[in-house]
Amino acid sequence: MKQVKWLWNQMKGYRARYVFSVVVLMIPIIMQLQNPIISQMIVDQVILKIPEYKGDMQELIDRLIRLLAWMVSLMVIRTIVWRFGIVSIERCGQRFLYDFKKKMFHKLQNLDRGFYKRNETGDLMTRLTSDAEMGKHGIVALLRGFMECFTLYIATTVYMFSKDVTLTLGLMVFTPIIFVVTFRFSKTARPYYMRLREKLSRMNSNAQENIEANRVIKAFAREDYEKRKFRERNEDFRQANIKASFVWLRFYPAIEGFSQALPIVVLVMGGIFLMNGRITAGTFLAFNSLCWTLAAPMRNMGMLVNDTQRFMASIDKLIELDAAEPTVSNKEGELVETDKLEGRIEFRDVSVKLEHTDVLEHVTFTIQPGETVALMGPTGSGKTTMINCINRFIDVTGGAVLIDDIDVRDYDLDVLRKNIGIANQDVFLFSDTINRNIAFGNSTLPSNQIERVARLARADFIWRMQNSFDTMIGERGTGLSGGQKQRLALARAIAINPSILILDDTTSAVDMNTESEIRDNLLEMSGNATKILIAQRYFSAMKADRIFILDHGHIIETGTHKELLRQGGYYQEIYLLQRGVSSLEEDEADRRSLSDDATDATARRTEVRANG
Ligand SMILES: Nc1ncnc2c1ncn2[C@@H]1O[C@H](COP(=O)(O)OP(=O)(O)O)[C@@H](O)[C@H]1O
Ligand SMILES: [Mg+2]
Repeated sequence: MKQVKWLWNQMKGYRARYVFSVVVLMIPIIMQLQNPIISQMIVDQVILKIPEYKGDMQELIDRLIRLLAWMVSLMVIRTIVWRFGIVSIERCGQRFLYDFKKKMFHKLQNLDRGFYKRNETGDLMTRLTSDAEMGKHGIVALLRGFMECFTLYIATTVYMFSKDVTLTLGLMVFTPIIFVVTFRFSKTARPYYMRLREKLSRMNSNAQENIEANRVIKAFAREDYEKRKFRERNEDFRQANIKASFVWLRFYPAIEGFSQALPIVVLVMGGIFLMNGRITAGTFLAFNSLCWTLAAPMRNMGMLVNDTQRFMASIDKLIELDAAEPTVSNKEGELVETDKLEGRIEFRDVSVKLEHTDVLEHVTFTIQPGETVALMGPTGSGKTTMINCINRFIDVTGGAVLIDDIDVRDYDLDVLRKNIGIANQDVFLFSDTINRNIAFGNSTLPSNQIERVARLARADFIWRMQNSFDTMIGERGTGLSGGQKQRLALARAIAINPSILILDDTTSAVDMNTESEIRDNLLEMSGNATKILIAQRYFSAMKADRIFILDHGHIIETGTHKELLRQGGYYQEIYLLQRGVSSLEEDEADRRSLSDDATDATARRTEVRANG
C-alpha cells in the first residue's frame, strides 16, 4: 500500500491530530448501538414487567423515564462528539490540500523543459485539482469509512455474542461471502478507474489547449473540428464513467442480497429461540434492529472499495508528480560563492545530444567580457540549443561550458541565471502591467530605470498607450504585435543589468529601422555585458565584434563582417542574397551609387525585393 504510506508521509505536522480525530469519530459509531440496547431494556424491564406490577405503576414509570432520559442525553452527547470529530478531520483534509498544492507549485517551478515536454498542462492541472481532492477524500472519508465499518461490525458482534452465541454465528455465516465478493470487485474495478482518470485528463488537456490556441483555431476556421474533437473526448469520459459504474452494479446485487438475508435469519432463528424461551422478547427486538449494523458495514465496504480504486488511481498520479526531479539542478557539495559574474564565456569541446541526435558536436570558442558576438546559421543548426547550455536550460552531454573560467555546473543555478538576461525566440509575457512585465527579473527597479530600458529596447509604443506603463496586457501578450512583444522581452532582459545578454532572434518581427536603432543602442549600452545575438539578417549581425556561423551543430565560420565577406562561405551567401545582388562587385557598385546614410533605404528596398 505505497499510496497510503505516501499519504501518511505527506501528513507531517498533523498526524497526531488526524489519528485523534479518527479515534474520536469512532465513539459516535459505537454509540449507535445505544438505541437498540436501550429499547431492549425498555421491553424487558418495563413493558414485559407490566403484568407483575398490578395497580402501582409508579416504579415502572420512573424506570421508563430514566431509560428515556439516558437515550436522549446519549444522543445529544453523540451529536456533539460527532461534530467535533468531523470538524477536526476536515481540518486535516484541508491542511493536506494546502500543503500539497504549495509543495507541488514549488516543484513545478524547478522542473525543466524535459518534464514539461512529457506532461501536458491539462494533465498537470488535473493532478493539482481533482487528484489532490481525491487525496483529501482519502484522508477525510475513506479511512474513516473503513474504520467505521470495522468498528460497527466488531461492536455489534461483541454485543450480540454477549446475548446469544448461536444466533450471532448464524448471522455471521454471510460475512466471509460478502468479503470475497467485495475483494473480487476491487480487483475488477481498478483498471476501469485508471482508464477513467486518463480520460478525464485527456479531456482537460484538450480543453486547455483549445482555449490557449483559440486564435489559431479561428484563423483556420476549425471551430467545428475542435468541437467535434472535444465532443469525442467528452463522450470517451462519459463512457468510461458508465463502464466504471456498471462494474459496481455487477457486484451490487450480490452484496445487497446477502445483506438483505440477515433480517430473515433473525426472524427464523430468533423466532424459534424466542418461542423456545431461549432469548427474551427484548433480545429478539435488539437482534432485529441490530441487523442493519451488521449489514451496513458489509454494504458500505463495497462502496468504499469502489471509492478506493478511484483514490488509488489519483494517488498514483500524485506520487508520480511528487517524485519528478529536474534533470538540471544544483550539484551536490560546495557551490561557487559569487554575486556578479564578469561575463567570459568559454565552450570547451561541447557536445549536446538530444533524444539520440547530436545537436552540437565538439564546439569550442571563447567570448571575452564585453564582447558582442552574433550567431547565425540555418534553422535547426543548433543556435538555441547552444545558448541554452549557457544558462543551463539544458546540460551539455560532452565537454563543458565555463563562465569566468568556472564550469557553469559549479555555480548556484539562481546566481547563474540572475546574471544572464535572456530574450527567447518565442516571447512569453504575463497578464500583468507593462511595468511589472519589464521589471519581472528585478521587481524593485525604479520607474525611471524601467523607462530607460524601454527606451533602449525602442519600445516607444508604450508611451503612446492609454495607460502608458500601467497598461495591462492580455494573457501571453494578446493585444500587442509580434515586434512590440519582442521589444518588451528585450527590455525585460536588459532590466536585470546582466553580465551576459542573450537575444535569440529577438528583433525578427521588428522593422529594419527600429532594428538598427536597437542594435546601436545595445552596442552602446552602459555596463560591460557580454552579448550574444542570434540573428537571421546580416544587418543585425554586421556590427558585432565577431560573427559565428553554425551549421549542423558545428561552427563553420568565425570572424568579423569584413573577414567573413572575404571568406566567401555561408555568410557571404546570406549577405548577397539579402542585399539582392549576385556578387560583391555588384554590391560595391550598387553602394557607390547611393550616399552612405541611405544604407537603411537599401536595406528596405532589399527587404521588399526579398519578399517579392
Ligand atoms: N528538446 C529537444 N529534443 C530533441 N531534439 C531537439 C530538442 N530541441 C531541439 N532539438 C533539435 O535540435 C536541433 C537544433 O535545434 P535548435 O537549437 O532549436 O536550432 P536553431 O535555434 O538553430 O533553429 C533541431 O534539429 C531540433 O529539432
Ligand atoms: Mg532557435
